[in-house]
Amino acid sequence: MMRSLLFVPADGGPKLDKAMASGADAVIIDLEDSITPERKVAARASALEFLKRTGAKKERPRILVRINGLDTGMTDADLDAIVPGRPDAVVFPKAEGGPSVVQLDGKLAAREAKAGLPKGSIKILAQAVESAAGLFAAGTFRDVSPRLIGMTWGPEDLSAELGAEANRDEHGMLTEPYRLARNICLYGAAAAKLPAIETVYVDFRNTEGLRRDTQDARRDGFTGRLAIHPSQVPVINEVFTPSPEQIEKAKMVVAAFAAQPGAGAVGIDGKMYDRPHLVRAQHLLDSVKR
Ligand code: COA
Ligand code: MG
Repeated sequence: MMRSLLFVPADGGPKLDKAMASGADAVIIDLEDSITPERKVAARASALEFLKRTGAKKERPRILVRINGLDTGMTDADLDAIVPGRPDAVVFPKAEGGPSVVQLDGKLAAREAKAGLPKGSIKILAQAVESAAGLFAAGTFRDVSPRLIGMTWGPEDLSAELGAEANRDEHGMLTEPYRLARNICLYGAAAAKLPAIETVYVDFRNTEGLRRDTQDARRDGFTGRLAIHPSQVPVINEVFTPSPEQIEKAKMVVAAFAAQPGAGAVGIDGKMYDRPHLVRAQHLLDSVKR
């Protein structure tokens, strides 16, 4: 389970080690938006050095690298540089549906072969809804590659593409075009049977705002969240860790169905539970097992 995934710029120096010690389930070394074009080459070298230095550690968060998108002309150089460091996964920005993942899958496979790594060892987390074309292709990720480990989305690139003045209103709530993108990410991930990962919360000093926004994400079915600052990690981990009450409740639902084999619906404390409730309870129990 990846509850929290903390971004750190690849040229972030001491921030890289701080990210590893933050308690995040995953650290994402960024080669994309937080790195200026002039710094890309140095950032790749820094990312590789870091992967080599930390990859073999036993108790460590997963290490992901965010590469540059397929339309930038930089993807191949990014992969040439970082695949030999064997990251657990790459974060794939501005993905445009299943076909774009197939393309990236091929690029990874060629470099895994060259580096002597098992085929498929490097996974893919798709930033599936952060362009207009990506949004329309968000329903096409099912069964495209065993590398896929999740889908996420991003309002910043979308609002730039739309030419929008803002993506949140005066209360900090996402405006309609970005609610839509968020929700499509959720449905796309569900259709592909992949975890949906909520996007970053940029207002990193606002812990209460982050907590509320993350609780909404969990309620709606996201199972983790991207972070940009170490102070966000404990909040995100807490929200995505089921409470003892939730676990107890889920066990009750599973037990009630087990006690009545063949029953399509059961009653617990005067409330009706049917198959979707059972599925949800099992999901929750699976998530704490992992
Ligand atoms: N990972 C690891 N450590 C981080 C960090 C991160 N993402 N963000 C901040 N820190 C560290 C700082 O180095 C600082 O350490 P120190 O107290 O030992 O000096 C401490 O946390 C407090 O940082 P703070 O002063 O509150 O923030 P800042 O002004 O240094 O950094 C940002 C603010 C936004 C530049 C920084 O959080 C950052 O780089 N975030 C990630 C950006 C990114 O990758 N964006 C791309 C994805 S959207
Ligand atoms: Mg982006």
